[in-house]
Amino acid sequence: MGKMERFSFVALVAGIIFFLFADFISWALPMFVLKDIPKKSVNDLAAEAIAKNTSAWSDFNKIYRFYPEQFKKFCEYEDMYSGAKKVEDCVPNEKTFAKALKIGHRWYVAEGCWNCHSQMVRPVSNETLRFGIPGVSNTVSYPSEYQNELQAPVLWGTKRIGQDLIREAAVHNIGWHVAHLYNPQSTSPGSVMPGYPWYFEKDKNGNIVPNARGIGLLTYIMWLGSWEVKPPEGFRIETAEK
Ligand code: HEC
Repeated sequence: MGKMERFSFVALVAGIIFFLFADFISWALPMFVLKDIPKKSVNDLAAEAIAKNTSAWSDFNKIYRFYPEQFKKFCEYEDMYSGAKKVEDCVPNEKTFAKALKIGHRWYVAEGCWNCHSQMVRPVSNETLRFGIPGVSNTVSYPSEYQNELQAPVLWGTKRIGQDLIREAAVHNIGWHVAHLYNPQSTSPGSVMPGYPWYFEKDKNGNIVPNARGIGLLTYIMWLGSWEVKPPEGFRIETAEK
């Protein structure tokens, strides 16, 4: 056997070993990490958010108060992905909240928002300072956050033309998101993000308001990371009597 032939054999075997090793790291290892963490359904997520009174739940209630007419249309909107039908009890509750999350998630996937936005804060390059709000919602991502129906398919993303969004809750308020999604340049001059006017309509006063699926998309965006939102240190609600 010539020297070169021996070398190519060694390279081939090493290549196969590295391939198997990469394979192990990228699917077997995560499986071991996740196997004891129960996978949550969207209904579980909605129930949990309500029980913990998270910022996403309070934002959903605000959406209901700000856009009552559109909220009614949202209740009647048949979600083509989950097949969810009209919700009878058209107020913020576990059912409507779960429905909004599902619709929002599906349109987020369909629009390809994940082409430009990742959903994972890594423990490198001060990412916790870059995304979220320091001290409020800026933790590194952890496995159990991804064990739910709204991460199937996983939306970690591969590119960050825009920011990471897994700590987006509490970064902006509803009004900002409405203006931004309708026309990103209105809030972020020079932004390369395209506008998504088809999530909006005009109300009877001529104002731009979210339509049925816009309510879903807004709810979903403001839900991202809401489970990690904590009031700033030293924060307390001031009451009249002291
Ligand atoms: C072509 C790439 C691109 C696409 C596609 C895209 N975005 Fe963006 N997005 C950006 C960029 C760049 C920014 C930062 C500038 C700005 O605020 O517009 C941004 C900012 C944002 C922000 C504000 C983040 C922050 O913390 O300030 C949100 C929320 C957002 N995008 C949501 C979405 C949603 C939802 C979709 C899909 C409907 C989407 N984006 C699609 C590029 C994109």
